[in-house]
Amino acid sequence: MLRLGVLASGRGSNFQAIIDAIGSGRLNAKIELLIVDKANAYAVQRANKHSIDHVFINPKDFSSKDDFFIAIRDELQKRGVELVILAGFMRVVQKPFIDAYANRIMNIHPALLPSFPGLHGQRQAVEHGVKISGCTVHFVDEGMDTGPIIIQAAVPVCSEDTEESLAARILLQEHRIYPEAIRLYSEGRLKVEGRKVIISSPTDEGCCIINPLLG
Ligand code: GAR
Repeated sequence: MLRLGVLASGRGSNFQAIIDAIGSGRLNAKIELLIVDKANAYAVQRANKHSIDHVFINPKDFSSKDDFFIAIRDELQKRGVELVILAGFMRVVQKPFIDAYANRIMNIHPALLPSFPGLHGQRQAVEHGVKISGCTVHFVDEGMDTGPIIIQAAVPVCSEDTEESLAARILLQEHRIYPEAIRLYSEGRLKVEGRKVIISSPTDEGCCIINPLLG
């Protein structure tokens, strides 16, 4: 069974979607640990409800970003975590951590990367006037939301949309594709070749079936 570690900073609804996918048997994995960088992150309450261990690692306790991420890395390795899930973790991860978990850290971003990386992906999409946006699950590299893309889902953007209404529409898709990406990983079906993530058979389903606009 795949051993997961989840990093979150806030609400944790993606964390919850993964808990639910495991609970319903759609995902064969175990969440070994939740790490938060904010003591009051609501994700902690979700962890408590589901008897998942959690640790608060305070960035203020470290003199450098590297040291903070080394502490996170050590905590995850101590628990035998194989795949790290960034679920609304609002920090750019640093090299010592990435090196230890190369192509084994996933992130979800609320836009169709490479458009609108960084903060407020939904607001950027509304302000830019795009007609389609969505969300992206990708492996994490040293850049800001630049790593190889695993799955994307698209949603329409309406002229009346606000940042909030678009975020809500995108979030529904986030909760669908994040557990799906982890499932593909757990089945050994993801292979990174340069910038591309190849999804192996039984059906080469990476590009379309999870995209609601493409049916
Ligand atoms: C999600 O919309 C996620 O895509 C976004 O933060 C939200 C966290 O929600 N992440 C980023 O913007 C990362 N750049 P959640 O805490 O309810 O899962």
